[in-house]
Amino acid sequence: MKFFNREKEIFEILSVLDEEPNNIYFIYGPINSGKTTLINHIINNKLNDGYKVFYINFRTLLISEKKDFIEAIFTTKKEGILEKIKDKSEVINILTKGVGIVTGIPIPEVELNNLFEARINDAFQYLNDVLLETKKCGKRPIIIFDVLENFVFQNLCRSAPKNLQMIKEITANGQKYLLKEIFQFLVSLTKEQHLAHCLCLTSDSLFVEYVYNTGELRGRVEYIFVDDFDKEIALKFMDFLAEEKLNRKLSNDEKELIYSYVGGKAKDIYDIIIKTAHKNLRDVLEEKLLNEVNIMEEFLRDLNYIKPEVNIRGQMIEVNKKEIMEALELFKKKYVVKLHDIPKHVYVYLINENILFLNPQKGILKPQSFLVWNAIKKVV
Ligand SMILES: Nc1ncnc2c1ncn2[C@@H]1O[C@H](COP(=O)(O)OP(=O)(O)O)[C@@H](O)[C@H]1O
Ligand SMILES: [Mg+2]
Repeated sequence: MKFFNREKEIFEILSVLDEEPNNIYFIYGPINSGKTTLINHIINNKLNDGYKVFYINFRTLLISEKKDFIEAIFTTKKEGILEKIKDKSEVINILTKGVGIVTGIPIPEVELNNLFEARINDAFQYLNDVLLETKKCGKRPIIIFDVLENFVFQNLCRSAPKNLQMIKEITANGQKYLLKEIFQFLVSLTKEQHLAHCLCLTSDSLFVEYVYNTGELRGRVEYIFVDDFDKEIALKFMDFLAEEKLNRKLSNDEKELIYSYVGGKAKDIYDIIIKTAHKNLRDVLEEKLLNEVNIMEEFLRDLNYIKPEVNIRGQMIEVNKKEIMEALELFKKKYVVKLHDIPKHVYVYLINENILFLNPQKGILKPQSFLVWNAIKKVV
């Protein structure tokens, strides 16, 4: 897949990586806007071999306790091969080699087993040592936490659990304060030791809001918003894909039509263009919209039977269908609504259901995608 555009975001992220680490960075935006693609493009094509990237993927993991977290961030395997890391010298070997993106933090198997028994701080200590060692080898470490949502699962079940949020819930239950410890560690890596860049990718806007409004993280976290493409760029993206995938040009009418259905969502535009190679464009668009409308209808139908509750600062608040309909009603005429125009428990619920997306920096809410927006306009 060829990479398209994102010049502004690339410039911004490279400028951050060029400086010494000083903040935790949240790279956030709606689902399927292109965050993972962007970061992978940068680390594969834009970084010189002065950097060492540690890529941590929370995708398939449900983090509910320390053990899950440790399993998610460490690896006992050598890159690309099934062979296990035997000792520390092999770890150092991995750190010094080439440009290299390392999936997970390399650790010998014995040491990993020890960490399961130990306190979480010992895991952080090990990680800290690896990063110091990396720096000693003359490389600048970057840690990337990617919360890659499972697209299929999310379509099947709108309330798919979101991993980073799972960690937050443990915190809410007061079990282990794992999230707090993770952030303390990341603050130490950035603001205090200036040791490693930390980039957290997420579509979970409630999580971003939580971090944004958490006093103790103020002044320690910065945000880079990776939104769906705006209209001008979306139309260019269609040209770009049509040339590559269809070997033909799209007419202006075709592009306007696609935009009216899916807006500037990279993944949706991509799916439409691919299908258009062997199907009628209008049929492809209608099919995609119908899918979204069905999901929306089922969601609203279910509200006749269930009494959902959301957790606001530890207190469970009930949400009723009438409030939800009133909130969705606001989107019939506009794409963007001010945060204050919808009661908090209602927007929290709609975000959990992946219907709305919140931008805490701008204090606005919008549908997760144009498709969702179009479904709201049809159904509500
Ligand atoms: N800049 C881009 N160039 C080409 N394709 C892109 C770009 N950004 C996103 N895409 C397409 O959109 C899909 C979803 O992007 P992804 O990075 O997985 O989204 P996110 O991580 O924000 O959920 C990708 O698989 C790719 O097909
Ligand atoms: Mg992603």
